[in-house]
Amino acid sequence: MMKLNVVGFEWLISPTPCLATLVVFLGYIWANWPYSHWKELGVPGPSPSPVVGNFLQIFGGGSPRLVHQEWIKKYGKVFGMYSGRTPTLDVSDPDFAKQVLIDNFNQFRNRKKPTVTQRPLDKGIKLSRNENWRHARNLLSPTFTSEKLKEMVPLLNKCAETMVKNCSKLCESNQAIEVKGIFGAYAMDCIASCAFGVEIDSLNDPNNEFVRNAKMVLTFSKMDPWLFMSLFFPFVGRMLDIFNYSVFSRKVTNFFFNETAKIIDVRKKEERPRKDFVHFMLNAHKTSSGDSDKEKYRYHGMANDEITANSLTFFLESYDTISTCLGFTSYLLATNSEVQQKLIQQIDKVVAMHGRVTYDALNDMPYLDMVISESLRMYPPAVFLERECEKDVIIKDIPIHKGIGVTINVWAIQHDSEIYPEPDKFIPERFTAEQKSKRPSCSFLAFGVGPRSCIGMQFALAECKMALVQILKRFTFETCGQTEIPLVLGKMVELAPSMGITLKFKKRQ
Ligand code: HEM
Repeated sequence: MMKLNVVGFEWLISPTPCLATLVVFLGYIWANWPYSHWKELGVPGPSPSPVVGNFLQIFGGGSPRLVHQEWIKKYGKVFGMYSGRTPTLDVSDPDFAKQVLIDNFNQFRNRKKPTVTQRPLDKGIKLSRNENWRHARNLLSPTFTSEKLKEMVPLLNKCAETMVKNCSKLCESNQAIEVKGIFGAYAMDCIASCAFGVEIDSLNDPNNEFVRNAKMVLTFSKMDPWLFMSLFFPFVGRMLDIFNYSVFSRKVTNFFFNETAKIIDVRKKEERPRKDFVHFMLNAHKTSSGDSDKEKYRYHGMANDEITANSLTFFLESYDTISTCLGFTSYLLATNSEVQQKLIQQIDKVVAMHGRVTYDALNDMPYLDMVISESLRMYPPAVFLERECEKDVIIKDIPIHKGIGVTINVWAIQHDSEIYPEPDKFIPERFTAEQKSKRPSCSFLAFGVGPRSCIGMQFALAECKMALVQILKRFTFETCGQTEIPLVLGKMVELAPSMGITLKFKKRQ
């Protein structure tokens, strides 16, 4: 019998190297398999890397916004890329955006599913999905009607008065003001008051228990290394779910659960309850349209954990967006004095007419509305909107399969010179009713559009308007030696000036 000579080639038949080769081979397949998706469909886009997709190009040093702008120039207003392992269509064409956000909404009801269940926020409206989202939205929508908003405006007014007192102190000592501090504190006071029933002056009381826990929520949500890992290794997310992982520490979560439980107790006993989000959520069933298949909502309002999750969601959704919007608006007014003067004239006239700053007075200031819209066009706090495809669909000849992500590039659409000529100029007159009607329907997306757009839009506008009116009644925004002109934006996805915004508040005569 012939004997096989394997000297030097034993590794080919030894089980360990064979297994190692198989593992490497399977690893190679796993690392590369999602990345032929767009090529196969003939959709252009940047080349991905194994495991991380286009992540390194987006976050590897430059600003994500500018990287996207380069890609738009190269591949057009609709191109394919990969967020980690998920094929994602990047859209900066308003008509395509409309098809996703409005016309084919039933295929795009959800945002991309987080890779880790973000307890306790998963019970809140922003992260809920499918039918759970629809029920939550139906239930919460009445909380944000103009009627309810009107009842909350006095609470906003009180927070604005606290802010103005703090500004006066800084103004008297002739100090330059880092506006994020002032507006961040105002945003926190407003949401503490409206969503948690707690009245605070967070600027002067940083050791307040609510303020300390709220600040922890803000930092936890952004710096979680596990969330980051799970973007590329989905099994990390699944493991974390098994271990009941929470993005916030138990201590912080418990603090907010206990606070909400206390407020709910108080609200239930009050004869004339304070009109805030907690009150409206507890009584949501009384005004909701009701859903026959969800009996529980028809007979009682939201459960405690749902109220806590939604209050925390409102807090996280409002803190950065409001302070960013007010920060950029104050900068734009300080550097465009004729706009600031025109706005002040309108504020003086309308406040004199109404006698005080009411909800109706705020709505009687169309120029203020135009100023805020133009500021949100130039500096949208949410630069991208995201959706996940739920059922296969073809839009403008591009097949979008179930599970594929769609990113709507708000920044690119709102800085498109074909839609907004001279996009880097601050021109509030772009937002007269006449000018708005001339533009395509999805060309302003600062609050999103369609059934899943920002539920807090009217509340947010009232909050920003209240702050600007109360300040501009007494001060003007002025640039000073520390003001960075022109503003240079940082490299993060969230819009923030790299050096912050520093202004002086000058007392009006
Ligand atoms: C200037 C301030 C604000 C801006 C620019 C803003 C913008 C946005 C955007 C762009 C979205 C995503 C929309 C989409 O995916 O189509 C969103 C969603 C949301 N916002 Fe706002 N927002 C602001 C303030 C607020 C405030 C004050 C609240 C609550 C009190 C709030 C609550 C929410 C919630 C709950 C969602 C999720 C809605 C859902 O999934 O059904 N936002 N917001």
